[in-house]
Amino acid sequence: MLANFVFSVCQAVIPAPCRLIAGLTIPLSTSHRTSRTMTHSIRTPATLITGANGEMGHGLIDRLSDAGSHNIIAIDVRPLDEKLQARCSATHVGDILDDRLLERLQSEYEIHTIYHLAALLSTRAEFTPEAAHRVNVEGTMLLLKLAIEQSRWHGSPVKFLFPSSIAVYGLPGVTAKSKAGRVKEQDWNTPITMYGCNKLYCEHLGRYYAKYYRQLAADAEPGGVDFRSIRFPGLISAVTMPSGGTSDYAPEMLHSAAQGKGYACFVRDDVRIPFMVMPDAISALLKLQTAPREKVSQFVYNIGAFNPSAGEIHDLVCAAFPGADITYKPDDKRQSIVDSWPEDVDDTPARNDFGHAPEYDLRRAFEEYLIPQIRTRYAQ
Ligand code: SER
Repeated sequence: MLANFVFSVCQAVIPAPCRLIAGLTIPLSTSHRTSRTMTHSIRTPATLITGANGEMGHGLIDRLSDAGSHNIIAIDVRPLDEKLQARCSATHVGDILDDRLLERLQSEYEIHTIYHLAALLSTRAEFTPEAAHRVNVEGTMLLLKLAIEQSRWHGSPVKFLFPSSIAVYGLPGVTAKSKAGRVKEQDWNTPITMYGCNKLYCEHLGRYYAKYYRQLAADAEPGGVDFRSIRFPGLISAVTMPSGGTSDYAPEMLHSAAQGKGYACFVRDDVRIPFMVMPDAISALLKLQTAPREKVSQFVYNIGAFNPSAGEIHDLVCAAFPGADITYKPDDKRQSIVDSWPEDVDDTPARNDFGHAPEYDLRRAFEEYLIPQIRTRYAQ
């Protein structure tokens, strides 16, 4: 096992180099690519969400907004869905690699929490590995830098929530996978995809920015970033579809059947990886965000819920939608990516440290969340 990752966290104490100047008036842009539903003459604490228009962004914005009192700043390369725009204080259409956009965020907002969700997923990243590196790694580094600068301004650590993935694991084949069972965070950190390499490296970058940033400088300021990361399993949502992932066969099977469309599954029926429904994924992220600092003993956590084979998902989908036309047409290359991911994860630290406790097991996920909500969605 290479790249053995040390997860203990230093007790970060942030100096307060600068306090925000109360009453500072920040000019608001009139760019057509930015919209705001409220104006500020004084900067109020804000939560920044990148990749806001993606699957996780949808779930997160709804939950944060339902909980009230969040000043949400959303950015995405595509315009945010209209119903989400109403739930944000400001939305920006743009690329996280765009320096000018990041400078504007820096100047206009006092950011205390960043959910950095923007990424190219595992299948898409294999088609354009260098572009994936730019978005997934350079983009993350720019956001970490923004977090450090924000923390200098307002004098407290910026919480940086980073979705990592089971793609950071790379088992050499099905025999090792079945023998490994529930993997721990430090096991098998030898990813075979660009996306997995990017996520694993960014976990280390987060640890570096949180604990060692500019460690040789006379004015080194450790603790500006409070980096917290979850390695998500495959995610299934009733209301959105993933795009560009390799665990997508599960949601694709389900959403196709619900729409009466045929589907050819690109992996064998016996392949098994961990999955979770989106509401539990969002709950875990929010629990980690609010966990007291002293309880967070690692930078990176596994979380699990259930781990069905593709065949078991097929059977549940067909039971809900009799006559569903689902066949198997394994794609050897995508299959080998899924074969390199663990069949389950050990999430004991997440359960102990921040109370991860998924509400949905496989049966409840289908009976009480996925099937009823998907029926409603496609009946409209
Ligand atoms: N769902 C992701 C993907 O398939 C893995 O985390 O790329």
